[in-house]
Amino acid sequence: DASDIEKGTYAHYMLKEMDEQPAVIRNIIQHYQNENGDIELTEGVRSLVSEADRIYIVACGTSYNAGLVGKDILERIAGIPTEVHVSSEFGYNMPLLSSRPLFVFLSQSGETADSRAVLVEVKKRGYKALTMTNVPGSTLSREANETMLLHAGPEIAVASTKAYTAQIAVLAILAYDIARANGKELPFELMPELARVATIMDSIMSQKELFEDLSDRYLKTTPNTFFIGRGLDASVCLEGALKVKEISYIQAEGYPGGELKHGSIALIEDGTPVIALISQPKTNLNIRGNVKEVVARGANACIISMQGVEHENDEFILPHVEPILAPLITVLPIQLMAYYAALARGCDVDKPRNLAKSVTVE
Ligand code: AGP
Repeated sequence: DASDIEKGTYAHYMLKEMDEQPAVIRNIIQHYQNENGDIELTEGVRSLVSEADRIYIVACGTSYNAGLVGKDILERIAGIPTEVHVSSEFGYNMPLLSSRPLFVFLSQSGETADSRAVLVEVKKRGYKALTMTNVPGSTLSREANETMLLHAGPEIAVASTKAYTAQIAVLAILAYDIARANGKELPFELMPELARVATIMDSIMSQKELFEDLSDRYLKTTPNTFFIGRGLDASVCLEGALKVKEISYIQAEGYPGGELKHGSIALIEDGTPVIALISQPKTNLNIRGNVKEVVARGANACIISMQGVEHENDEFILPHVEPILAPLITVLPIQLMAYYAALARGCDVDKPRNLAKSVTVE
């Protein structure tokens, strides 16, 4: 059938979609820059964000996890206070809002019922909304005031991969545009750095067997695992844990490293795999301290780090990118490890049990 053709030579849509990530980043660069290489957003989007004193990101699942990264980027680059909320909570437990809130709905499908319920409610209250989605003409796109597209191409595997990296890239573009409009100093040029990210993504995806090997050694037979990190790495750990849970059915926790000692470290036993992501210079020493703590309790620790913060014995050292964009790179090894774990455990990678691609009931 048609879906077999789309998958081409790939065993799974998930694998194909992970592989497409460098091309998606390049596509996003193309769509959001003008001939001078400057970021270009529509006037509608620009006027919407220029009126806002605070951004409320509302999303579910992987899109929520991308929102956590987006919050850091928006606050650090654009200087605009940003909150991230799970749609199904936000609907009935709305926080105190600022005087000029802007709602940003992150949704690959644009059809998630929990997110739509919030959109309906905020519109009823007269607020403005921007949807970032992969699907033009989707419900969340049609019903919001403005849309920014992810340009990632159809995502078919239930486990979202390229939409996550696309969302982070588009949020970074939005943050840079706001920063420029407000005359803020920009720490580096975004579009060339995104182009470098795409090249690095290519190099990671060409070394898949290394991550298959890590997956075999750390995830293949374990009943449970931890992903630990600090700051932006902690946000990526949440996404890593979600990927592993949904497709390989391994009980996985994504945790800020410093928080482990407040309870969860009790779960560490001889051989418990702990995968540590280390890309942020600010937290490098502290997270390495946390790794020592779990190793002292028997954990089987796997450190994936980045040039600039690497240590000799780290399992894998990723090429350096600007730390604020590191999630675009650090997520790849764990997407791949989740994929190979699911494969090794005989799971249905593209259609995991109990899940649907888009959740259209509240
Ligand atoms: C991701 O791997 C999940 N299957 C799921 O969490 C998904 O991200 C969530 O349901 C949100 O979907 P959306 O982005 O289409 O709104």
